[in-house]
Amino acid sequence: MEQYVIKGGIPLVGEVEIGGAKNAALAILAASIMTDETVTIDNLPDVRDINALLQAMEDIGAKIDRIDAHAVKVNGSFVRDVPVDYESMKKIRASYYLLGSLLGKYKRAEVTLPGGCNIGSRPMDLHIKGFRALGAHVEIRNGAVAAEAERLVGSHIYLDKVSVGATINIMMAAAMAEGKTTIENAAKEPHVVDVANFLNSMGANIRGAGTDVIRIVGVEKLHKTEYSVIPDQIEAGTFMFAAAATKGDVMVRNVIPKHLEATTAKLLEAGCEVEEFDDAVRVVASKPLRHMQVTTLPYPGFPTDMQPQMSVLLGIAEGTSTVTESIFENRFKYVDELARMGADIKVESNIAIISGIKNYAGARVSAPDLRAGAALVIAGLSAEGITIVDDIHYIQRGYEVFEEKLKGLGAQIEKVSSEKEIQKFRLKVS
Ligand code: EPZ
Repeated sequence: MEQYVIKGGIPLVGEVEIGGAKNAALAILAASIMTDETVTIDNLPDVRDINALLQAMEDIGAKIDRIDAHAVKVNGSFVRDVPVDYESMKKIRASYYLLGSLLGKYKRAEVTLPGGCNIGSRPMDLHIKGFRALGAHVEIRNGAVAAEAERLVGSHIYLDKVSVGATINIMMAAAMAEGKTTIENAAKEPHVVDVANFLNSMGANIRGAGTDVIRIVGVEKLHKTEYSVIPDQIEAGTFMFAAAATKGDVMVRNVIPKHLEATTAKLLEAGCEVEEFDDAVRVVASKPLRHMQVTTLPYPGFPTDMQPQMSVLLGIAEGTSTVTESIFENRFKYVDELARMGADIKVESNIAIISGIKNYAGARVSAPDLRAGAALVIAGLSAEGITIVDDIHYIQRGYEVFEEKLKGLGAQIEKVSSEKEIQKFRLKVS
């Protein structure tokens, strides 16, 4: 088991380069097997979730050629095993995207019910509602979702709740259905747009992605393409918040500033300076942080994937703040860990009431999930003394060389795998 060991209290200063968006890349990879021609995908993040999905795709017969750590060629003409019950599938929630892509292409799909971060109940009713509306027969059998259709026929689908996964999954299946599909109350996240752009570059006909009505005219075949994934707005936001929490000055490069508007607005409200460039943002935190109210919402609202990082920041802001989580009900599990570092946070239902303290104190904490894990690292970077973060395999699901990027900004952080190494680090920094 690996840990991060951090000596906090050093302002992060310098430049950091952001990688491709994990959540866009997962859906794009799943969609890439919808053609029998070879698709090239670039700007993939080299993280565990991506590698697990590539493994799952290989398991069902797709041919994957790694060009380098961030690019692959995928050929879906060898996909043979449409019912898929592999260990690799269970490792990541995003394997559910293979339902939409396989159903669209082969009119038949069976995928083991997904795993992924435990951040609350994560139903699939809306995905299933969409597939049924397109004419598929869908049932849950032996822990898997099985969908089958003689013909997929375009339809009008209203999503009762804004769901990124359901929007993308239905969009993929509808891209190869007969006739027109309309998805209403669609998710507007940048990765929904990126997947639509990718499918269109393969010959699909999808309009309106990025608004709440997506219109799709099905096509019979998709073709090869070369595509580069958008930058990861959550990785970018995480570094922006790390800069703010450590009173640093960081230029976050290779981003689309428009995708970061909610994050930027909240940092400005907290008293930081944020400067926008064409493809970079600079965060400078020189004044005391101010308290505020935050509610997570679907895009363009403040992202739930930035909620733990936000709480960590407000934990050391002046006054009392509230953070309301409106997307997932179980996303405050890190609060007990943060309390070990001195945080004063009470959770009532889906609201965290945060009374700011002056500083965190280093402690041994454990990452409960991906984003909360990254947030605990931020707390460690700003804390007095030494913090050890256990269970960093969660963080490695979605952040590429996190510790290296932080080191590049002057952080004292090491990835270790034994108590001896932790002791060595303590001696080195004392
Ligand atoms: C995606 O999850 C992301 N995962 C999550 O990122 C992210 O937190 C989430 O979107 C919200 O932005 C991937 O892209 C792989 P949803 P997803 O469907 O698609 C409810 C990270 O840290 N819902 O938009 O599973 C659901 O319970 C991860 O990178 C239904 O009720 O999220 C939730 O309350 C964690 N029925 C809300 O909708 C359904 O059929 C939004 O979920 C589907 C969802």
